[in-house]
Amino acid sequence: MTSYEQIFENNKKWVASKLAGDAQFFERLAKDQQPDYLYIGCSDSRVPANEIMGLDAGELFVHRNIANLVNSIDLNVMSVINYAVRQLGVKHIIVCGHYNCGGVKAAMTAQDLGLLNPWLRNIRDVYRLHQEELDNIQDNTQRTNRLVELNVQEQCLNVIKTAVVQQSYLAKGYPTVHGWVYDLHNGLLVDLKIDFEGLLHEIQRIYDLTGKGMQF
Ligand code: CO
Repeated sequence: MTSYEQIFENNKKWVASKLAGDAQFFERLAKDQQPDYLYIGCSDSRVPANEIMGLDAGELFVHRNIANLVNSIDLNVMSVINYAVRQLGVKHIIVCGHYNCGGVKAAMTAQDLGLLNPWLRNIRDVYRLHQEELDNIQDNTQRTNRLVELNVQEQCLNVIKTAVVQQSYLAKGYPTVHGWVYDLHNGLLVDLKIDFEGLLHEIQRIYDLTGKGMQF
């Protein structure tokens, strides 16, 4: 285990290395942030957002929670999306899950998980929506990993259901929404290649919040 004191030593080394590459690094970043990407991912310690994407400080706006959920009554994630789209004007919103996700696995077990029950209920709902497909997968790991992918897809839909994303896309042509899965075994990102335009069009039949009628 890294000692508590060691972390402050690490921090000083990191500052020195940044300044060696760019003497104005912190001064420049202190003025403003203009990230093009919003990342919504799992809190899992093995999936460090900036690191896996090769992005530096200032390049990624980040929200993480257990199993990368986008729940319409979660004031936290909704505030992040609103701020990222309205104030920062991000061009891309990424929902990134990961295979072997503990939250998804927990949602596939028959047990009382206390405070986690209402949170993981969202994943049980995703399972119910895709029950036929999932029940037909015999292998447990494969079934879990497929639910990880379907969960990412559903959370992308939840992002697309927000008024701020629909209205910004209508007015400016961005942001677009992407679904990814990170593979813990090899460190690679998999793009699920969700059809953003198609999903937006489909979603708007019921969830149109633009106030301007069907647009897409
Ligand atoms: Co996870």
